[in-house]
Amino acid sequence: MRASWISFFTVYAPMAGVPILLVAYVIAFFYGLTDIRNILFGLALIGLGVFGVSGLREVYVSKRPANSIRLKTMTILPEIRPEKRQLKHSEKFVKFIVKRFNPKTQILEKQTYQVKTDKFSTVLDGLLDIKQEEDPTLSMRYSCRMGICGSCGMVVNGKPALACETNVWKNYSENGIEVSPMLGHPLLKDLVTDFDDFFEKHVFVNPYLFRKDLSEKYHPTKQYDQTKEQLDKFLPFSYCIMCGLCADACPVVNTNPEFIGPQALSQAYRYYADSRDEAGASRLGRVDLLKGVWDCEFAGSCSEVCPKGVDPAFAIQLLKTEIIKNDFLGGMPKK
Ligand code: SF4
Ligand code: FES
Repeated sequence: MRASWISFFTVYAPMAGVPILLVAYVIAFFYGLTDIRNILFGLALIGLGVFGVSGLREVYVSKRPANSIRLKTMTILPEIRPEKRQLKHSEKFVKFIVKRFNPKTQILEKQTYQVKTDKFSTVLDGLLDIKQEEDPTLSMRYSCRMGICGSCGMVVNGKPALACETNVWKNYSENGIEVSPMLGHPLLKDLVTDFDDFFEKHVFVNPYLFRKDLSEKYHPTKQYDQTKEQLDKFLPFSYCIMCGLCADACPVVNTNPEFIGPQALSQAYRYYADSRDEAGASRLGRVDLLKGVWDCEFAGSCSEVCPKGVDPAFAIQLLKTEIIKNDFLGGMPKK
């Protein structure tokens, strides 16, 4: 689908044409056809020139620095098979405008597809339909298709969202529906982003229960009972599915990659508030940093986009309160 008429004239035609012209030149040489020889030689030179220029362009594009992400508009209207054109009365075509990241050129390329949808179709259904019926090269990450695994985060009409939980008919306009990768994470290919740094920050806050008596782990004698009040303190923050939407929406994460971020900080509070945890104030020391809670500007966009109602912005303010109450570092955050 990507092979265009331009690449036909600049790459494939000269590749095939130049050897043919050279053979014809040798034949003309032996038959003494001087005029035809000159014409053939000229054409072969032009072909070699075009081929050389297109080769130099390829070298230039592959050496472009990785951080120069540009948006190239390239509208491709794929051929839709006749049976796909048959709409039931409950269906309609919706234009999907997909901004795909090309790792070779470091460019976001805009491609347009017509997708058959019904009132239950999600954005993920539409993308999988494109992949199955029209363009198998389209890459996206997904797994459960039911808002549990947190894999399918992307930006729909400019807002971070789970593709499997975003209904197409409720979100498209006459311009269609626009889907792009989350730019708050490094881009890998098309709609797929790199979560390594995001997971490292999660690990940084020690997201597990800490108990002083390690032997009870191997020889438990009782359950860890909790009252409803104790459970309510941390339960809303334990619904995080690590989808990364909050980090993508956060203006601080997008300007300071060092910031631990709303997801990891909300989990720091989740374990701090758990009555079964015995790490105590050491958890506060872990996030009492300039790149920790004190970098949060309380924009609130993380809580706005969270699909599970975790409210990371609130968790960070609770951490700040706890740090001040504990007079943890005499009011001076660590660097
Ligand atoms: S806090 Fe919400 S938005 Fe952030 S990773 Fe967890 S579930 Fe996703
Ligand atoms: S595919 Fe699992 S949350 Fe969307």
